Amino acid sequence: MSEELIPETPEQETEENEAAEPIKQRKNGLYPGVSDELAENMKSGWADTELHDLAPIPQAEHTAARRAALSARFPGERLVIPAGNLKTRSNDTEYAFRASTEYAYLTGDQTQDGVLVLEPTGEQGHQATIYLLPRSNRENGEFWLDGQGELWVGRRHSLTEAEQLLGIPAKDVRELAAALAEATGPVRSVRGHDASIEAALTDKVTAERDEELRVYLSEARLVKDAFEISELEKACDATARGFEDVVKSLDKAEATSERFIEGTFFLRARIEGNDIGYGSICAAGPHATTLHWVRNDGAVRPGELLLLDAGVETNDLYTADVTRTLPINGTFSPLQRKIYDAVYEAQEAGIAAVKPGAAFRDFHDASQRVLAEKLVEWGLLGDLTVEKVLELGLQRRWTLHGTGHMLGMDVHDCAVARTEAYVDGILEPGVCLTVEPGLYFQADDLTVPEEYRGIGVRIEDDILVTEDGNRNLSDKLPRRADEVEAWMARLKG
Ligand code: GLY
Ligand code: MN
Ligand code: MN
Repeated sequence: MSEELIPETPEQETEENEAAEPIKQRKNGLYPGVSDELAENMKSGWADTELHDLAPIPQAEHTAARRAALSARFPGERLVIPAGNLKTRSNDTEYAFRASTEYAYLTGDQTQDGVLVLEPTGEQGHQATIYLLPRSNRENGEFWLDGQGELWVGRRHSLTEAEQLLGIPAKDVRELAAALAEATGPVRSVRGHDASIEAALTDKVTAERDEELRVYLSEARLVKDAFEISELEKACDATARGFEDVVKSLDKAEATSERFIEGTFFLRARIEGNDIGYGSICAAGPHATTLHWVRNDGAVRPGELLLLDAGVETNDLYTADVTRTLPINGTFSPLQRKIYDAVYEAQEAGIAAVKPGAAFRDFHDASQRVLAEKLVEWGLLGDLTVEKVLELGLQRRWTLHGTGHMLGMDVHDCAVARTEAYVDGILEPGVCLTVEPGLYFQADDLTVPEEYRGIGVRIEDDILVTEDGNRNLSDKLPRRADEVEAWMARLKG
């Protein structure tokens, strides 16, 4: 079905309609224009569907606390945080919308074109307003003639409904550009999401000051609140079920391709959450040595390994990021198991290093040390000592990537936090990160014995720093080789 198959927009220049956004004019509609009689007919005969006395969304008190912290950091400044707009795929077809992380974090809302504005109320404090498109206008035909109208894409909240749900006063977003144009005083905005907001603010903001806001909002998410932790738990639990789905249907993947695995996991993500949190890596056989293998078009062969790196994103936009490397036929070969056990040991060492007061870098260093020891033990690094290997970083030929990253609304969360707050930072309770060591022996690596070539193993879990250590949020999935085999045997039946 296409929007192009609808009538041209009628001329309706009543005073009432001038206040509303003019609906899009379609020059090449395939049907003739709307008759006056039809336009009139469509205006009435609709029940009042306004919802009353709505309870606030579960995270409303948390979003209020996040806005209060933001307000305290930027006193006296107007702060503008857009959700972003739809992006055209072609003609009248758009990509799926995903609200900006900053906007969703501060509001709990995910409405396209929404904008959160914090107006300073003096030297201290702000008044938050959420600017949204109200329900489709029935007077000018928008609700059935516009491609984003209610009868095309579904009902939007009225402003009153949105206010009740979010706990934030709501205004019509069509008033925002003019309000911003008239605004005086210092302004900061989050860039990269909404070109119309950037155009309205062009003379009022600087890139440097806007970047400070973006960095603040990245660092604010380093420590998760109770709502965020429960979302990450939910994401991990749904992800575990997605991995189970994959194991149960491995025979179908063998008959088709890695795509079957991708589709199977995606089904779970859409049933239990909003989406996948990133492109699923469904890497069978030698594809497991390609870190971000998302083409997923290869064969799934018994006797080889499947590296599955996938995460469900919850409806409130928190994602898991989990990897298991599984023997496709259910049993590791001795060499696969040797490499798997080395990565498992490295992950154990990494997880043990995640605790309050530890440096962020500690778990990486702990995992890399174990992997270097194994590579030396296996004779892959000549007669170098482990210390020398680590000093020169030579293990990285086969370990390739950092051992983990912050996790939250973005899979690589808090990505613009300053080095001193993140990479050189100290862990504290509420931080959630991945521990994901791996060993990757490329199919064309002539420096390793032939039997190693084409084997890739990664094990990745989502670890929450607690008051006295850590908690593995993804521990519903087995990690030890024998437990993996037993789990697969049970699921395969
Ligand atoms: N899934 C990408 C990563 O593990 O970082
Ligand atoms: Mn990861
Ligand atoms: Mn991952």
